[in-house]
Amino acid sequence: MPITIPIRHADVPLPASQARRGASGLTSLPPLSLYVHVPWCVRKCPYCDFNSHAIAGEIPERAYLDALRADLEQALPLIWGRQVMTVFIGGGTPSLLSPAGLDELLAMLRAYLNLWPDAEITMEANPGTAEAGRFRDYAASGVNRLSLGIQSFDDAQLRALGRIHDAAQARRAIAMAQAAVARVNLDVMFALPGQSVQACAADVREALSHGTEHLSLYHLTLEPNTVFAKYPPVVPDDDTAAAMQDTVQELAEQAGLARYEVSAYARAGARCRHNLNYWEFGDYLGIGPGAHGKLSFHDRIVRQARTRNPERWMAAALAGDGSHVAESREVGPEDLPFEFMLNVLRLKDGVPATHFAERTGLSLATIAHQLEAAVRRGLLDPDPTRLKATPQGWAFLNDLQAIFLP
Ligand SMILES: C[S@@+](CC[C@H](N)C(=O)[O-])C[C@H]1O[C@@H](n2cnc3c(N)ncnc32)[C@H](O)[C@@H]1O
Ligand code: SF4
Repeated sequence: MPITIPIRHADVPLPASQARRGASGLTSLPPLSLYVHVPWCVRKCPYCDFNSHAIAGEIPERAYLDALRADLEQALPLIWGRQVMTVFIGGGTPSLLSPAGLDELLAMLRAYLNLWPDAEITMEANPGTAEAGRFRDYAASGVNRLSLGIQSFDDAQLRALGRIHDAAQARRAIAMAQAAVARVNLDVMFALPGQSVQACAADVREALSHGTEHLSLYHLTLEPNTVFAKYPPVVPDDDTAAAMQDTVQELAEQAGLARYEVSAYARAGARCRHNLNYWEFGDYLGIGPGAHGKLSFHDRIVRQARTRNPERWMAAALAGDGSHVAESREVGPEDLPFEFMLNVLRLKDGVPATHFAERTGLSLATIAHQLEAAVRRGLLDPDPTRLKATPQGWAFLNDLQAIFLP
């Protein structure tokens, strides 16, 4: 949602204590989102490098919610007066939270934050933890979008991926989610071990057959420090994976879902507002273990990362001394162009060129040479009013983004 908050008149000098070298000079702040990380899963999937930890039995919900409150309270001075446009409760498996726990979490957010009345509030859920009553309760508490980790509708694939659910449970979870909230996203992965283009197409056809408004279609990547990195399965070669990508896009578009980001497909009006804010280089506060944040101030842009280990994060957040924030660093003007392009060029339509100055505080003239080089190589659209990859640039996005490296 393109709302900006004017923060100071350009002719009002900064107090000496706030005047800084390399000041980014933002004249308005971008929209603000909130990410809440829930770090536990029933079982760790062998391909997953998210900050998620297998837990036997109940999650330590009371301690988690207390620590989350402490984390949020300590972050408030960084976002005073700003409205929160979207909330994303991700994981791990947030659907391990009890309905009462989730209700307490959302009540806490409403009490502490200036939450936009029409805020998009997404929660991730694993089909293996889905229950109709649970989804209805989450919705009653304010969740208005559910994102289901489906991955595949092929039982053998689901077993190979170490999932805790089968295809029948995935189908039931979709029906339950759609009955509970108006907006449902399905995560599906492709280029799975031993997968054929036909099998990939069957998964996507089935995902679309549920009247889905939003699909996240991820190319399976073998991430370092996962079981799949240690014992790599045989995955489709690059040509087959490229054929799958084409097929997936064709099927989604036939069903009325446009590919608007590298991995995201949506019907008109159904784009994920929270993720769009990331890709448009908006701001986000991240709370919970391992959560990342990016926050703008009139004179600087700061990136934060919370302590990853759930127990250490809980203890540190409750200590109230700021030690739960493992990293907090100012993004220097030399790094801003690359960080900006890394995000916005993922969007098929890019962003208006004016976004660059608005969101980085730098003039577009500072990257004139890189822009020229990118256009010359046919990777960036020559339209001066937009920053947007050409089809070629989108297909070789790493090459395009690398042009803006410091
Ligand atoms: C945090 S998980 C989603 C919710 C829940 N934890 C689940 O898996 O059901 C986010 C999504 O990222 C995708 N993902 C995770 N690891 C991946 C990988 N190595 N390659 C591609 N996609 C991956 C999966 O589609 C997964 O649903
Ligand atoms: S359930 Fe989701 S977050 Fe948890 S290990 Fe599997 S893919 Fe990762």
